[in-house]
Amino acid sequence: MVSIEDIASEKDAALQRIAAASSSTELDSVRVAVLGKKGTLTQLLRNMAAIPASEKASVGRAINATKAAVEQTLEDKAQALKAAELIERTQAQAVDVSLPGRTLPLGSQHLISRITAEIIEVFHGIGYRVAEGSEADTDYYNFTALNTPADHPARGLQDTFYLRDLSGDTASIAGESDAQLRPQTSGVQVHTMENEKPPIYILAPGRVYRRDVADPSHLPQFTQIEGLVVDSGITFGDLKGTLEYFCREVFGPDRRTRFRPHFFPFTEPSAEVDVSCGICNGAGCRFCGGTGWLEILGCGMVDPNVFAYVDIDPEVYSGFAFGLGVERIACLKYDIPDLRMLLAGDMRFLRQF
Ligand code: DAH
Repeated sequence: MVSIEDIASEKDAALQRIAAASSSTELDSVRVAVLGKKGTLTQLLRNMAAIPASEKASVGRAINATKAAVEQTLEDKAQALKAAELIERTQAQAVDVSLPGRTLPLGSQHLISRITAEIIEVFHGIGYRVAEGSEADTDYYNFTALNTPADHPARGLQDTFYLRDLSGDTASIAGESDAQLRPQTSGVQVHTMENEKPPIYILAPGRVYRRDVADPSHLPQFTQIEGLVVDSGITFGDLKGTLEYFCREVFGPDRRTRFRPHFFPFTEPSAEVDVSCGICNGAGCRFCGGTGWLEILGCGMVDPNVFAYVDIDPEVYSGFAFGLGVERIACLKYDIPDLRMLLAGDMRFLRQF
C-alpha cells in the first residue's frame, strides 16, 4: 500500500538522483528510472488501485504534485547541463587566437630606387617630366648625335658593350646594325628633341653600362639621371640656379656646391658640380681625397652642333643639360664609403635606409 510517506521519500530520492546527474545522458537514465514505464514513480501510480477510497484523493494529489515537481526539476537540470556542456564543447574546439601569427617580411624600396624617386620628385616640383629611354641604343644616339663623331677621343673613355643577336651578328635597332648597351643616358636627349618641340623640361633616369672594373668609386653598371631643358632665353644662370636648388633639396642647406669648368662633347660651356664633403665638412679627409669636395654631376649649355642633329634652331632656342650618377648621390648623401656596398645585397647594411 502506498502511503504519503512513501511518496515523500520517493520524491526525495528522485530529486537527489537528479541533483547527482553530471551529464545529459546520465540525466536521461534518471528520467527513465523515475518516470519511465517501469519507473519508480510510475510504479507508485500503478499501485493506486489498492488504496482505500477515503485516501485515494489525497494520495493521488501527492503523487501528481511529486510528478510535477520531479518533471520541473528534471527540466531545469537538463537546461543547466546543456548549457554547461555547450561551454565545455566550444572551449575544447576553440582556436587559440592569442597565439602570435607568423609575420611576413615586408619588402621595401632599395636605396637606389628611393634616391631616384627623390630626385625625380625634386624636379617634378619645378615642372620637369620623366622621359623613358632604352638601355640598348645605336651608336648614333649614344655618340654621333651627341657631337661625338667616330674619331672623337672622348669615345675611348666610354668603351661600350656592343650587342650581338642570336646568330652572332651585331644586333640592329631600327635598321642600324650597331646596337650597344648605352654608356650614358644622354642619348635620351636626342630621342626627345627628335620627337618634341621646345619647351622641353625632362628627366631621363635609367641604367648605363661602362667597361669599368668595380672599385669604391666605379661600377660597370650604374644608374644615371639625365636632365634636359630647351626653351627660349635659357642661360647658364638658369642652369646654375636649377642645380643649386637641386643640391640644397637633396643634401640639405649645410652642404655647399661649386661649379668647375670641364669638357663634354655635347655641351659648351661645360662644368662639373662638386658638393662639399659631408664627412670632413670641407676641411679635407680620405673620403674626399683631401680636397673637401666630391664631384656629383656633369652639365653644360646644349652645344649648337647637337641642336643641328635634331633640327632645333639655336638662334631661337637655347638649353642646358646635366647628367648625374644616382649611386654616387646616395653614397654622398649617407656618407657611404664604397659604391659596391649598394649592390652587395647585405641586408644588415640595406635595412638602415
Ligand atoms: N653623360 C655624361 C657622363 O656620363 C654626364 C653629362 C655631362 C650629361 C654633361 C650631360 C651633360 O647632359 O650636359 O659622364
